[in-house]
Amino acid sequence: MPAPASFSNYIDTHADTISSDARRRQDVIMMGNWLNGQLNELGVETKLMDLGTHEMQGQTLQLPPAIIGRLGSDPAKKTVLIYGHYDVQPALKTDGWKTDPFTLVVDEDSGRLIGRGSTDDKGPILGWLNVIEAHKNLGIAMPVNVRFCFEGMEENGSEGLDECIQEEVKKGKDGWFDGVDCVCISDNYWLNTRTPALTYGLRGIAYFSINVTGPGQDLHSGLFGRTVHEPMTDLIKLMSKLVDHNGDILIPGIDDMVPPHDEEELRLYQKMDYTTEDIEEAAGGKEKKTVVLMGRMRQPSLSLHGIQGAFSEVGAKTVIPAKIGGKFSIRLVPPQTPEKIVPLVNAYLEAEFAKFNSKNKMEVEYLHGGKPWVADVRHWNFEAAKKAIEAVYKKTPDYTREGGSIPVTLTFAESLGVNVLLLPMGRADDGAHSTNEKLDRSNFIEGTKVLGTYLYEVGAAA
Ligand code: BES
Ligand code: MN
Ligand code: MN
Repeated sequence: MPAPASFSNYIDTHADTISSDARRRQDVIMMGNWLNGQLNELGVETKLMDLGTHEMQGQTLQLPPAIIGRLGSDPAKKTVLIYGHYDVQPALKTDGWKTDPFTLVVDEDSGRLIGRGSTDDKGPILGWLNVIEAHKNLGIAMPVNVRFCFEGMEENGSEGLDECIQEEVKKGKDGWFDGVDCVCISDNYWLNTRTPALTYGLRGIAYFSINVTGPGQDLHSGLFGRTVHEPMTDLIKLMSKLVDHNGDILIPGIDDMVPPHDEEELRLYQKMDYTTEDIEEAAGGKEKKTVVLMGRMRQPSLSLHGIQGAFSEVGAKTVIPAKIGGKFSIRLVPPQTPEKIVPLVNAYLEAEFAKFNSKNKMEVEYLHGGKPWVADVRHWNFEAAKKAIEAVYKKTPDYTREGGSIPVTLTFAESLGVNVLLLPMGRADDGAHSTNEKLDRSNFIEGTKVLGTYLYEVGAAA
């Protein structure tokens, strides 16, 4: 069933209605309250779920609320659950932004919406709101019942959300997720800048800190150099044993937990619209398209992120840091899970550290994690999205798996027992998490049409 022409026209003729209130979210809770108000104004009934508090940077902090919403309860219609996150990654102008990261700038020349969260993930959330607004203002009924789940902690491991969802599901008929037929998440990107994508997999993640402590306080390296075991020296040696320069993971049992691909799977990667030029600028480019894609989509990876407590200012300070924390994470693919990985990481680092005979103390801290997810693309949910993309973009989508993580995806799939689809709005070059993050206006407008059209196709699916 195609979306009515009036819907598509409405999106085109109201393309300037980018809500200015969304531009300057001072903090995540304010953003949540704003979003809640917008939903209410559009006629969506909501409840704010208190996720409690958590410890962060030595403080007890209130978690931003999860917003659960519902619109429509027609038993004759399908029910779609939509997820998005209203939190964003940090950004400082001094990171290299050309404009203030927290003021949305519309660059008329390039047609880009520039600002933190434009593509990840406020743009797509506004896309969903605009679909509802269009129907409200046109006076036409939504083709499906809609349920929402918007959270404000995705970029920090989605604390508390799994339990919140599971409890809502457990309420059965009294819960707001009762009768959900499928889930749609718009929180990722096309594989390139040309071809829309449908995404059926995400990597999981396990995030760690190696904490090494030694002397009671920082020391003068002239007085103590060569007389103490230096924590940072131990840490660097340990971190150098995690991964080699080709990306092979040196912790035994991790890389080989993943079964090799077969010919059929290889063909999936050959089909994707991708050339190594698509990443050359950003990543320097490995040799072969299929190798690059499989490295990102079906293999684990280990990245070193930073060292807490190290001297990192300008100039030359001759200090021996007494306490140091090395951060790294491992992206996981099936059948890996954080539970399976954590013991391997602990055992390996402890064994390696023991070899140093160091006087320092070393502790491996597991900070957060999420499981990987892979879905069945032959499901009507994916078929509906494919038809929507073909209708709006006149193109067949790439079927992709993503290297990134959205921890809650598998929770929806498992606790609701329904198909989950990732339907991206932005492009590969949007710069999520990076400087000058943007969403092309055409992706915003056409993407909004795709989201709306997808709901019609779901409504018509058998
Ligand atoms: N939107 C991303 C997930 C994503 C990233 C999908 C790249 C596709 C490609 C999400 O907001 C994100 O950044 N997730 C974090 C999760 C982590 C903090 C648990 C990530 O992947 O680093
Ligand atoms: Mn995101
Ligand atoms: Mn993100």
